[in-house]
Amino acid sequence: MAIKWNIIHRGVTESTNDDAALGVHGDVYTADYQLSGRGRIGHKWQSPSGVNLLMSAVLDVTDMASEEVCTLPLVAGLSVAMAIRDIIGYNRDVKLKWPNDILIDSQKVAGILCERKSDKVIVGIGINVLKQDFPKEIALRATYLGGETKIHQVRDGVLKWLSSLYCQWREYGFASLWQKISEIDFLKGREVTICQVDDDKNAITGLCVGIMIDGSLQVGEHVIYAGEAHVKL
Ligand code: BTN
Repeated sequence: MAIKWNIIHRGVTESTNDDAALGVHGDVYTADYQLSGRGRIGHKWQSPSGVNLLMSAVLDVTDMASEEVCTLPLVAGLSVAMAIRDIIGYNRDVKLKWPNDILIDSQKVAGILCERKSDKVIVGIGINVLKQDFPKEIALRATYLGGETKIHQVRDGVLKWLSSLYCQWREYGFASLWQKISEIDFLKGREVTICQVDDDKNAITGLCVGIMIDGSLQVGEHVIYAGEAHVKL
């Protein structure tokens, strides 16, 4: 059964992930602008007003094993990648960079921050939609969808895929989605460094085998469940 989404939009908010903490399964919080948007591993997520999709969806994970819940960010990543492909065309190189960045031609177009609140997971999604100038520190690594794309069109596309893939995940598990994820695995076959924090002294470097059927990442002999991946391009 598809999820019946309930969209709640605000002009300005602190963070749509905070708004969603009060929501129930199927609620989706969006905003034009976030005063304290956040990214993974303590990073800020800054976005000009009305230019990008800033959205947090509430999904129920009652009665699921915590190892399975940990794979939801990858399911969300696949949903975003599929929606982006529908919009920009299947001839473009859209990839999922473990654990949850979406890249077009090796440049980041979207990021995902999942946060668990008891039996719910808040799936926070930021997608660069309209043409924009990025701060110079990230200008070479970031991109946007551009063209005639509308923010609401991206929102609806992502929600369509998220509903369908969440239902499949709930019924058949992450393993049933693994093949599709593996096909868009950006890190597979690349030399990578995995850090737990910025400037990690214990970072792991090696040839990436790819995303495994349990959602972990294999790098050489190491099996990694969390971290940030860096690749030399
Ligand atoms: C990342 O790449 O580090 C994840 C970025 C996630 C950003 C989105 S924007 C909507 C939602 N609200 C937030 O504060 N963060 C997420």
